[in-house]
Amino acid sequence: MKKVLIIGDPGVDDAFAIMYALRHPEIEVVGIVSGYGNVSQQDTVRNTKLLLDLADLEEIPIILGADRPLTGEEPQYFYDVHGNYGLGGLIPDSPASIKVYPLTKVYELIDEHGKDLTLANLSRLSTLALMYLHPENNLDQVDQVLIMGGAFHVPGNVTPLAEANVYGDPQAAKVVAKHGRNLTFIPLNVSNRAIITNEVIDYLAQNSSSPYTPILEPIMSYYSKQYETIMPGINGAPLHDVTLFSYLLNPDRYFTVNRQVHVTVDGPSRGLTHADFRPNPKTLDKDPIHTIVVDFDSSFFVKDFIKIMS
Ligand code: BDR
Ligand code: CA
Repeated sequence: MKKVLIIGDPGVDDAFAIMYALRHPEIEVVGIVSGYGNVSQQDTVRNTKLLLDLADLEEIPIILGADRPLTGEEPQYFYDVHGNYGLGGLIPDSPASIKVYPLTKVYELIDEHGKDLTLANLSRLSTLALMYLHPENNLDQVDQVLIMGGAFHVPGNVTPLAEANVYGDPQAAKVVAKHGRNLTFIPLNVSNRAIITNEVIDYLAQNSSSPYTPILEPIMSYYSKQYETIMPGINGAPLHDVTLFSYLLNPDRYFTVNRQVHVTVDGPSRGLTHADFRPNPKTLDKDPIHTIVVDFDSSFFVKDFIKIMS
């Protein structure tokens, strides 16, 4: 059983990743930190609550993460991609009140689960950076930290060079790359090919029996429609954030390299991530070496997604 603490910004692909993790028989979700990114924090908290309530998992704590980049600049949201409420075409109810925990709860959860715990960061890296910058943090106790982020020598998605989670707070990404240990980056190199088709969603909508079955199609259809413009010719959409949990449980289906990760924080190439992929890379300073996932078995990804979501 893998215990995970999720940091996310649901967001359509985050929502699918959260559903996948909550449905997976070998994953125990110990908490969900709601940040900002795809949509505002107010929306991510409400969306997280909806996903927990549908599965009768109200006991999983919702924790407030960062609501803006480390610099304090206003976040740029992506309602055009993720829908008016962040869940595609779904219009969620607004509960009168939602119980949330302060960020200090993550340190309690890390103390409690220690080496059994994986941190899965699906959003801007602001919360994770704040955690690393805390002088008394206990992050060295966790087993590993998985990050959906970066685009290594491939086109970005929010700019020609940058991936959204890094671009949204590049200073935070730099802090995490410098201070993090046992980090694995799953970048667009892989996640852009983690495509779930509309037919798969139709199949699940008709043949699965989970508390999530009724919401799969409304969430996905808006998002995949937007992706027709973002990636012309695509049938469906990439579920970037699901790759973290697929990798966690099936690492042998993913191909990795170990390199230092560099981040450009400003200028026209803001949010660019790069690494020295030469066979004999040069290391700079004493910065740590991280794992970067560069390839995967995409047909396995789809089959496994169907199995877990069924
Ligand atoms: C990442 O950015 C967000 O829009 C998605 O949820 C994903 O985490 C993809 O670049
Ligand atoms: Ca996300």
